[in-house]
Amino acid sequence: MAINKVAVLGCGLMGSGIAQVCAQAGREVTVIEVAEEYLNKGMGNISKQVGRLVEKGKMSAEDRDATLGRLRGSTRLEDAAEAEIVIEAIIENMDEKHKTYSSLDQICSASTIFASNTSSLSITQMMTSTSPERQRRFVGMHFFNPVPVMRLVEIVRTILTDPEVFIAATEFGRDIGKVPVQTSDRTGFIVNRLLVPYMLDSIRALEEGVASIVDIDNAMKLGCGYPMGPLTLGDFVGLDTTFYIANIMFDEFREKRFAPPPLLKRMVMAGLYGRKSGRGFYDYTDPNNPKPMNLL
Ligand code: 3HC
Repeated sequence: MAINKVAVLGCGLMGSGIAQVCAQAGREVTVIEVAEEYLNKGMGNISKQVGRLVEKGKMSAEDRDATLGRLRGSTRLEDAAEAEIVIEAIIENMDEKHKTYSSLDQICSASTIFASNTSSLSITQMMTSTSPERQRRFVGMHFFNPVPVMRLVEIVRTILTDPEVFIAATEFGRDIGKVPVQTSDRTGFIVNRLLVPYMLDSIRALEEGVASIVDIDNAMKLGCGYPMGPLTLGDFVGLDTTFYIANIMFDEFREKRFAPPPLLKRMVMAGLYGRKSGRGFYDYTDPNNPKPMNLL
C-alpha cells in the first residue's frame, strides 16, 4: 500500500529536509512545529532550497510550486491525524519524545506508522509510550544531513516491529528517492556505530599531537576519497550533537571507542559547536574560507 499522507514533526535542519524530500516525491506533507517562529524558519528554508534547484535548472518552476503546494505547516499536533506515516524529527530528548508519542498515539488512526529520525536514542524506549498495537507499527527512519543530498536512510526495527510495517517503511524510503538499509535497534544503528568512533579517533589524534587539524582532514579527504575530513565533518554535524551521540553510545556499549575525548568535551563546554556557532575546529567568520583554530 503506497503511503501518500505524511506528517513530519519538527522543522529544524533534519525535519525540513525530510519534509522537502517527501513533498518533492509527490507526498502530501504536514509539517508540525512547537512554535510559529520555528515553523516559519523551517518552511522558509525549504522554499529557499527548492528555489535553488530551480535556479540550477534541476527543477521546473511548476514543480517547485507543486512541491511547495503539497506542504502545509501547523503548530498543532492534532493536524497529524490524517497521516499514514508520522516521521518525528524533534529535539533528541527522551522525555519530549515520550510526551509527543503518547499524545500522537491518541490522535492518529490505528494504522498510522510511527517513525523516529533519532540518531542515537532507543526506538524501543520511545515506543513504550504508545499502545501495544502501535508498538508493532513503530520503526526508526534515520536520514542524513543534508537530507536532500544524502541518499541513505536507515530503517530500524525493534523486536516488536511487525515485519509488514518494516517492509512498508523500507518501500516508503525507496519511493521518496532514498536507498534504504535495514537494521535493528542498537544505538547508532549502522552508520553512527562506524562513523562516531572514527570521528572521535580523529579528535584523539589531534589531542595526541599526531598531526594538525588541516593535515588530519586532508589525510582522510585525499587519502581515502571522503568528501570531508573528520574534523570538518564534526563541525558540520555539530560538536554538541557529536558529543551527545558519543555519550549515549558509550552508555550503551561501555566501550572506550565511543568515549568522548576531553578536547571534545571542553570545546562543547566553551560553546565551540562547529558551523552552527561560528567556531569549532575551524573559525567560520569567513564561511568560504574557514581557518583552523588553535586549540592545544
Ligand atoms: N542542503 C542542500 N543541498 C546542499 C547542502 C545543504 N546543506 N550542502 C550542499 N548541497 C548541495 C549543493 O547545492 C550541491 O548541489 P549541486 O551538485 O546540485 O550543485 C551539492 O550538494 C554539492 O555541494 P558542494 O559542491 O557545495 O560541496 P560538496 O561537493 O563538498 O558537497 C556535501 C557538500 C554534500 C555536504 C559533501 O561535502 C558531503 O557529502 N559531506 C559529508 C556529509 C556527511 O557525511 N553527512 C552525514 C553526516 S552524519 C549524519 O547526518 C548522521 C547524524 O545522525 C549525525
